[in-house]
Amino acid sequence: MLSWDDFNSDAPIKTFKPQDIPEPVRQAALKTAAPVQPAPTPTDSASLKQAIIKDKEQAPAKVAAPAPTPVLEPQKTDASTTPVAEPELDPSLSLLERAKANIETLDVAAAAAEMEMGAARIEVDDKAMINCRADLNQLVPFKYDWAWQKYLDACANHWMPQEINMTADVATWKSEDGLSADERLIVERSLGYFSSADSLVANNLVLAVYRLITNPECRQYLLRQSFEEAIHTHAYQYCVESLGMDEGEIFNMYREVPAVAKKAAWTIKHTQALCDPTFNTGTPETDQELLSNLIAFCCVTEGIFFYCGFSQILSMGRRNKMTGVAEQFQYILRDESMHLNFGVDVINQIKLENPHLWTDAFQQKAIQMIIEGTELEVAYARDTMPRGVLGMNAAMMEEYLHFIANRRLNQLGLAEQYPGAQNPFPWMSEMMDLRKEKNFFETRVIEYQTGGALSWD
Ligand SMILES: [Fe+2]
Ligand SMILES: [Fe+2]
Repeated sequence: MLSWDDFNSDAPIKTFKPQDIPEPVRQAALKTAAPVQPAPTPTDSASLKQAIIKDKEQAPAKVAAPAPTPVLEPQKTDASTTPVAEPELDPSLSLLERAKANIETLDVAAAAAEMEMGAARIEVDDKAMINCRADLNQLVPFKYDWAWQKYLDACANHWMPQEINMTADVATWKSEDGLSADERLIVERSLGYFSSADSLVANNLVLAVYRLITNPECRQYLLRQSFEEAIHTHAYQYCVESLGMDEGEIFNMYREVPAVAKKAAWTIKHTQALCDPTFNTGTPETDQELLSNLIAFCCVTEGIFFYCGFSQILSMGRRNKMTGVAEQFQYILRDESMHLNFGVDVINQIKLENPHLWTDAFQQKAIQMIIEGTELEVAYARDTMPRGVLGMNAAMMEEYLHFIANRRLNQLGLAEQYPGAQNPFPWMSEMMDLRKEKNFFETRVIEYQTGGALSWD
């Protein structure tokens, strides 16, 4: 059995050198290779690379790759669109011998050329939110400290659905007089809408937005956010499973219940252009398309579509009903308010760096999108609250959504569209400011550990 002592050596780490290639590998490679051309540089490594790669004219069917460029100069190539081919090796070689030969001929220069600026070190000023030509694998130096801080804050807020006690919820849900019919409708619709909405947001992040945001500290946050969206979908699944609900009914609501389906359809409509694998930014039109996507997802989907359901479920929790579900939603709301704020910062940074995109026509389009989202959410509020329930009703929710919409418009530097709208649910702001240590519903232990701590004992 291996132990750590087997690796306890002060000897320097051995690096692989051309002369380390076992003689049989070297001979076999040379035997199958074309006559060796004069090497570009007189090193064993370069000679061997030349030797292993068969001569194109002698064996055209077997040769798949040109000789590697023996320099580390960054260069713009179309390599990203060409499959990487490996040199043909003698089939009689063992796997270990073939692996070593492949490593020896690995072309660092070609890999560097895959990156826009190759192996160059980057400066802060090289960085940009979109259409950046700098190496995106170099996280530091930071340009957007706020993005890195949000990543750290998000990690500090880590939680998992199973940490929340659902026992009281199960008893309430299964009891005939635990909830009114209107309250049950709200639980079902909320889980139905959110279970698919968080999945749509996650897919948009991973499949559409991530590659177009060309800044590594922002990408770091987007990776964290993507995981949080997975946790949210997990939380809804955990609620559905705990309560013994009809999974098919809940997870298909975004296709089958009109007020839910309309919201989902609006969100999906705004990801389609970017999901085309040939889509790229770089023109005013495509850059504006990305901005539209960010407004649709961060400001409308996460910033308006979530707020009727959030306030309904949190109001239920405040009345000591379905406290486990409510606590799940409370943690999700805290995450979502950060997603929204990060999205707004990204949008405003893109505006700052590309003022030509923020035309009057585009601003009108953005305002219209916020109004469309507000209208859809008001319709959802009416559908889920045919009567007053939980100390709220559709008219109050409409006022609240107008207040929220004004806030989103303000955040983007756009004119408010609902003059004088007030917040009828001031307790919602408190919920968003919840710190991890605070145990609002007193359903869980205050101190908890995020992840297991490693011990060397
Ligand atoms: Fe989410
Ligand atoms: Fe989110």
